[in-house]
Amino acid sequence: MSNIAILTSGGDSPGMNAAVSTVARCAARLGMPLIGIKRGFNGLLGKSKNPEDDYVYLNLDTELDIADRPGTYLRTARCEDFKKKECQEAAAKRLRDLDVSGLVVIGGDGSFQGAMRLCEQGINCIGIPGTIDNDLHYTEATLGYDTAVNVCADVVQAIRATSRSHDRPHVVEVMGRHCGDIALMTAASTGSEIVIVPEVKWSVDSAAAQLNAHLERGNTRATVVVAEGAWESMEPFDLYAFLKPYGKRVFEDEPMTANRLASVLKRKCGMAEVRSTVVGYTQRGWSPTARDFSFAFEAGYMAVELLANNVSNEVIGLQNGRTFHVPIEKALSTHRPFNYRLYDMINQL
Ligand code: ADP
Ligand code: F6P
Repeated sequence: MSNIAILTSGGDSPGMNAAVSTVARCAARLGMPLIGIKRGFNGLLGKSKNPEDDYVYLNLDTELDIADRPGTYLRTARCEDFKKKECQEAAAKRLRDLDVSGLVVIGGDGSFQGAMRLCEQGINCIGIPGTIDNDLHYTEATLGYDTAVNVCADVVQAIRATSRSHDRPHVVEVMGRHCGDIALMTAASTGSEIVIVPEVKWSVDSAAAQLNAHLERGNTRATVVVAEGAWESMEPFDLYAFLKPYGKRVFEDEPMTANRLASVLKRKCGMAEVRSTVVGYTQRGWSPTARDFSFAFEAGYMAVELLANNVSNEVIGLQNGRTFHVPIEKALSTHRPFNYRLYDMINQL
């Protein structure tokens, strides 16, 4: 009986361990040993001195101990070398040497590209969309997105409590790479007044005008939720020219940040104080929500089912709340429009 292998790649996301644990359970039921490849595609390239740094056979203890833990037990990493054909060939050979008949890849679009390359080398692969960013459009949600939104919502709620107490606005930056979904859902689920995302062009002046409108209504405690990718959709703004006359320590060509935006809004809106917070890695390192855990469970189950039936080059997603599978190429070319309606509802209220 041949083996199944599994790896996690790209940024870690809550629910990765739950998926690995479920795959281990399903593989055990089929009598197929499960090999956990360490540090994404790196573990397939035989770079480590000891094989145990590259892969590990998962046992019942691991399966039980990791399931509800945040992070990824298998470790994760980015592996530039894997984009080279010779590395993909070497990885496929290593998997064959380990008698692996199928590989589960948990990661984002980059990791799915890697999986496609392995399929071209004759290795059966199934992907599970593991990233907090929700930037894979073929699926309603990626694994970890719900947890990230819940963490951000908790953080923003706490921030709004202290903002209310001090009568001051607050800029909160959340992750998402080039996708504004975490910011959008965080704003919608906390009653935040302004949301800024990479999908919509904006300017410092438009943000200041929005904040001013809230101030005129007497709301001195508004929250501005900014997606980290939104600095790229901002119209150019000369921070140096604006802040220098106020005696601020600022450098020419300095990029905009949450802290700088707060500083600019404070001055443009005539406020005594505007504060800022970057939520950062806490939104990635939390235990999976029930929704993420159950998606991980269903996706892990489906991944082994597909491999056992010799299905390959496909990824699992959510459609109308149910797991489904689709060819990787089709998944990566699917476009889901941004939720402009929700964006307008938040920003126009
Ligand atoms: P994510 O999977 O979250 O999108 P990355 O884009 O960083 O994260 O990709 C993760 C890893 O997937 C990369 O470090 C690399 O090992 C692999 N990968 C990305 N793009 C390709 C590609 N075109 N061909 C082969 N492997 C790739
Ligand atoms: O892709 C997940 C993500 O957390 C993004 O939201 C963020 O931009 C990036 O990873 C951070 O990557 P790193 O862990 O390499 O700092």
